[in-house]
Amino acid sequence: MCGIVSYIGDQDPVPILIKGLRRLEYRGYDSAGIALLDGSILSSVKKAGKVSELSDQISSNTIKGSCGIAHTRWATHGIPNDVNAHPHLDKTGKIALVHNGIIENYDAIKKTLESRGVIFKSETDSEVLVQLISELYYNGDGKLDFKDSVKAALQEVVGAYGIVAMCSDEPNTLVAARMGSPLVFGVGDNEFLFASDASPIIEFTRNVIYLDDGEFVIVKGSEYSISNINSKEIVTKTLTKIDLTIEEIEKGEFPHFMLKEIHDQKHSISDTLRGRLNLDDGTSMLGGINDHIPSILSASRIYITACGTSWHAGLIGKHLIEEYARVPVHVEYASEFRYRNAIIDANTILIAISQSGETADTLAAIKKSKEAGALTLGICNVVGSTISRETDAGIFTHAGPEIGVASTKAFTAQVTVLIMLALKIGRKKGVSLYRGKDLIKSLKNIDLNVTDILKGINKIKEVAKSTFKANNYLYLGRGVNFPVALEGALKLKEISYIHAEGYPAAEMKHGPIALIDKDMPVVFIAPQDDTFTKILSNIEEVKARGGIIITITDKENDALSSLSDFVLVTPKTHKYVFPINSSIILQILAYELAVCRGCDIDQPRNLAKSVTVE
Ligand code: AGP
Ligand code: GLU
Repeated sequence: MCGIVSYIGDQDPVPILIKGLRRLEYRGYDSAGIALLDGSILSSVKKAGKVSELSDQISSNTIKGSCGIAHTRWATHGIPNDVNAHPHLDKTGKIALVHNGIIENYDAIKKTLESRGVIFKSETDSEVLVQLISELYYNGDGKLDFKDSVKAALQEVVGAYGIVAMCSDEPNTLVAARMGSPLVFGVGDNEFLFASDASPIIEFTRNVIYLDDGEFVIVKGSEYSISNINSKEIVTKTLTKIDLTIEEIEKGEFPHFMLKEIHDQKHSISDTLRGRLNLDDGTSMLGGINDHIPSILSASRIYITACGTSWHAGLIGKHLIEEYARVPVHVEYASEFRYRNAIIDANTILIAISQSGETADTLAAIKKSKEAGALTLGICNVVGSTISRETDAGIFTHAGPEIGVASTKAFTAQVTVLIMLALKIGRKKGVSLYRGKDLIKSLKNIDLNVTDILKGINKIKEVAKSTFKANNYLYLGRGVNFPVALEGALKLKEISYIHAEGYPAAEMKHGPIALIDKDMPVVFIAPQDDTFTKILSNIEEVKARGGIIITITDKENDALSSLSDFVLVTPKTHKYVFPINSSIILQILAYELAVCRGCDIDQPRNLAKSVTVE
């Protein structure tokens, strides 16, 4: 969590840093702060709340300098208040640091420093790091300069960090390092930026270096060098050109990023499919994993690991891969998988799904699987992200930047990739040309489907207006639509704070049915496939208990219409493409419910987009 941005160059850093923080605010919005170095004068402003509060504070304050560091926080240690906001300063007020991550051994270091008389101002783990740097620099044997003190301190800490620091003894200098938390280094013409992702950088330069774990950068004026935190040796890194556009990271005419991203699905799914479908052969072409097809074909098991929405995509992937490729697939929460004694060997394939490509638990699951000899594949949305670099191979979802905290277009792009993957392996394993073509034909119509669904927004708004006062919502689906139910419930919880649960429709009678009364909306995901008559009986069961029935289906049906309070119809499509259609409806429903409830949709409470801590 947390967004870091820093600037060194000829321009005034303040507007650059504030704008950068706004772009990174999706990563955390508990507090924000900025520190600047003007010659040897270090000044800082920090404020609980969103970046706008910091920016208001700064306009009435004078803060200037030739380089600066800034931070937007998602608190892990210490409540969100002004004091705990970053940047943190050392006891002399000469060193400032921003940190993304967790210093796990902060308590032990803090106790040692306190015994030496250091008085801590904040409750954060991050302040421990800046005080430790200060102790090594000012109270050591005098052999360590600032840069080496930072390196020495980093060698003592355990945990995850992306940091940028500066010291008033070293004007016009920034140092940065990463271990486990993302940090991108933008290399411009006599100006340099560090940021948690590329979005604050692209206005200044397209040339970036993705730092790897253990790397350390020092920028002095217009020179920079990269080494490792535990050695002096210079590391040579290649510049990567990024092709992100400003329009992609701004919300344009939409009131919220989430709504923009829901609409983006008119093209993001086909962007993900582009150049990857071969109708004649009824298969897909996935260049990123080509070299590994023989290992995938001979694998004895596949684990899919992910968190949150990406995990739901994984559950849909299990249905697809088992149906088409007939390999056992286990879908695991990365946070559980990383700590359990799972059976992983050289015949295991691990597929990690992540929008951000930075989720700490997913990354740890990949590392564990690699160590155990598995082939690791990534399904990621962010090119250059840690997961995309850490996996042996992978398939990018081309959903474009997703900024709304609630994942929408990334999810449908993940499902799209999983369909193509299942098809690819399936066709190699004997799935007929006919079945292959059948699936591809439906995929090719996806843009039209999405456009059609979006035309029905008003009907979904009506559902929201009639049900937004509910305290609970139940989502029910069967088979491949059970994960859709889970995803619909998660979306609703995240942005509207209505308690919601997803359940397999038939399981309802084993417990959740007790919750149903006239105030309980129940969403049924009920396409007219082989499970339809069964789910119709489940709808009857809810009807008999007075629940409010909202049905999502793919064809008008008299029985459904008479049982349901609302029926939302999506275009008819393939059984395995329907989850994409129905999830879009559920995204809109969650969005409209949150609008009715006046919630902060792009920045829901307590959440952050990218969970880079455990
Ligand atoms: C989705 O709406 C959530 N914000 C969250 O569950 C998210 O999907 C999860 O944190 C995983 O993120 P990732 O895909 O970037 O790894
Ligand atoms: N641990 C730090 C804090 O609580 C940074 C949090 C983070 O990166 O999410 O301030």
